Amino acid sequence: MPDLHGKTALVTGAGRGIGAAIALDLARAGADVVINYSRSQAQAAEVQKAIQSLGQRAMTVQADVSQKTQIDRMFDQIEGAWGPVDILVNNAGIEFRKPVREITEELYDQVMDTNLKGAFFCAQRALEGMKQKGWGRVINISSVHEITPTGFCCVYSMSKGGMRLMMRELALEYSRFGITVNNVAPGAIRTDINREVLSDPAYEAKVISKIPAGFIGMPEDVSKMVVFLASDEARYITGAVILIDGGLGLR
Ligand SMILES: NC(=O)c1ccc[n+]([C@@H]2O[C@H](COP(=O)([O-])OP(=O)(O)OC[C@H]3O[C@@H](n4cnc5c(N)ncnc54)[C@H](OP(=O)(O)O)[C@@H]3O)[C@@H](O)[C@H]2O)c1
Repeated sequence: MPDLHGKTALVTGAGRGIGAAIALDLARAGADVVINYSRSQAQAAEVQKAIQSLGQRAMTVQADVSQKTQIDRMFDQIEGAWGPVDILVNNAGIEFRKPVREITEELYDQVMDTNLKGAFFCAQRALEGMKQKGWGRVINISSVHEITPTGFCCVYSMSKGGMRLMMRELALEYSRFGITVNNVAPGAIRTDINREVLSDPAYEAKVISKIPAGFIGMPEDVSKMVVFLASDEARYITGAVILIDGGLGLR
């Protein structure tokens, strides 16, 4: 069982969905957790309460990760209170389902700035503190679409594909300092991101028909792997992509 006592973790977009499950499971393994949120203040406060009831420290920090100034303010706040973070989980992400011809510059920037630029600048800040400590974990929640195209979400795939090479670059540069950098790449996981589309039974059946395991995953299918990658047991895993997709990426 991974033991994360004495470690501090920052999970971006941790008020709900996969991020909330990751924050809770990191705390169950003993980590103190910073819950970043952008808009979901009340839900972030619920996650904080749940973590504190497990006996771990938890703080919420509001920041829109698509804005570098807000990332810097968030890290200043965290480091001022708790010191440098040991574990960074770049989870915050957005997706827009639109044909290529309907993608505006604004939409493009919103997706790339949240999913890719935000992850990069969070990592940039976190890695320097990790380097000083000689220990660190950067875990990006990418997507099976970092490898395979969607057919409906071009810029989303581009952002996740960028995350793949970002992770490999960071792993190459920082692994010598006791830091590992990896991507966890989910397939279809039930959260708000797909609640609306999956509420159509015909669409849901179509999605399930493409998944060899035959069902849609839950946030906890992802969070258990993040806890393992964050632990000392995973010290020799770096520069890797772990697919958590019930085999979706095989097609
Ligand atoms: N669910 C899936 O099937 C699936 C599959 C592959 C990959 N993923 C990836 O998994 C990650 C989590 O997705 P999810 O399914 O849990 O989606 P979700 O339920 O829609 O949650 C998205 C999270 O991202 C946060 N977020 C969005 N924009 C943000 C910003 N600018 N700054 C800070 N936080 C921001 C949201 O926070 P606020 O509510 O506070 O704005 C929310 O906590 C994403 O990166 C997504 O691409 C999900």
